[in-house]
Amino acid sequence: PLVSMRQLLDHAAENGYGLPAFNVNNLEQVQAIMEAAAECDSPVIMQASAGARKYAGEAFLRHLIDAAVEAYPQIPVVMHQDHGQSPAICMGAIRSGFSSVMMDGSLMEDGKTPSSYDYNVAVSREVVKFSHSIGVTVEAELGCLGSLETGQAGEEDGVGAEGTLDHSMLLTDPDQAADFVKQTDCDALAIAIGTSHGAYKFTRKPTGDILAIERVKAIHARLPNTHLVMHGSSSVPQELLEIIRQYGGDMKETYGVPVEEIQTAIKFGVRKINIDTDIRLAMTGAVRKFLFENPSKFDPREFLKPAREAAKLVCKARFEAFGCAGQA
Ligand code: G3H
Ligand code: 13P
Ligand code: NA
Ligand code: ZN
Repeated sequence: PLVSMRQLLDHAAENGYGLPAFNVNNLEQVQAIMEAAAECDSPVIMQASAGARKYAGEAFLRHLIDAAVEAYPQIPVVMHQDHGQSPAICMGAIRSGFSSVMMDGSLMEDGKTPSSYDYNVAVSREVVKFSHSIGVTVEAELGCLGSLETGQAGEEDGVGAEGTLDHSMLLTDPDQAADFVKQTDCDALAIAIGTSHGAYKFTRKPTGDILAIERVKAIHARLPNTHLVMHGSSSVPQELLEIIRQYGGDMKETYGVPVEEIQTAIKFGVRKINIDTDIRLAMTGAVRKFLFENPSKFDPREFLKPAREAAKLVCKARFEAFGCAGQA
């Protein structure tokens, strides 16, 4: 059934596990996530970005998720709107059936310019007000995603701030987080700890100076009852990069957020872990490999099947690693 995000996150907190939140754009991704969830008996968070709505259209996304709920009646599913840029966008998503929304007030409506604290409080509080009155969960964000290595917001595919960010914005302040949650009453809080969207997060395997897991602990100490969210949390597995390179792709050396670091963060109150890039890498590698090995094939089903299978393996691995296998 379609369930509320709050209900899933509360259960995760009570039982000490985390939930991957996978971005979806098309049929094969939805199927991959649901097959993985069914095989490991996990609850599901599927989320749609502005880019997903632009690509697939609101109606197609909604009906794909409805289809998932119908096909897997035993699996609890949350349909979450990722990175809402304004209260109006969040309202639109709720009207179209999303059971959870993210109001990303860390940036202005352009989705690029870092906002003031007061603006963020105001828009987040507004969304909480209308959402809670109808049982919709709200995720807010304090701090900006970006690299502690370079100070660059560094989002290569257009999601997130642009240019160089002040170092203080790249790490969520625990005292400010406590004030923010008190003022907004958001259900979940996305925090900045040095991760960024996309495949190019770190130039080396991250250590504590560039991936601030300790900061999660400090924020959790101030906000023990708030569900923390990690964005930009793909692990960018080296073996997936290798498959892409082996079959003609061109990807520079890069590192993601190691699964062990996420496991530590889950111990410190992280309940929702956003993952998009890893599914993209898995599908791209599988498509490249199939078409390279079968140059005469042209039925999309033939290359989308291994792509779906590769995405499913990533999802299963995250469900298991984050402790939500068996929790559906
Ligand atoms: O928010 C970041 C996600 O990876 C979505 O990316 O805007 O390209 O769909 P997208
Ligand atoms: P990745 O690019 O690391 O998969 O992050 C996705 C995300 O945070 C979506 O909101
Ligand atoms: Na989100
Ligand atoms: Zn994100």
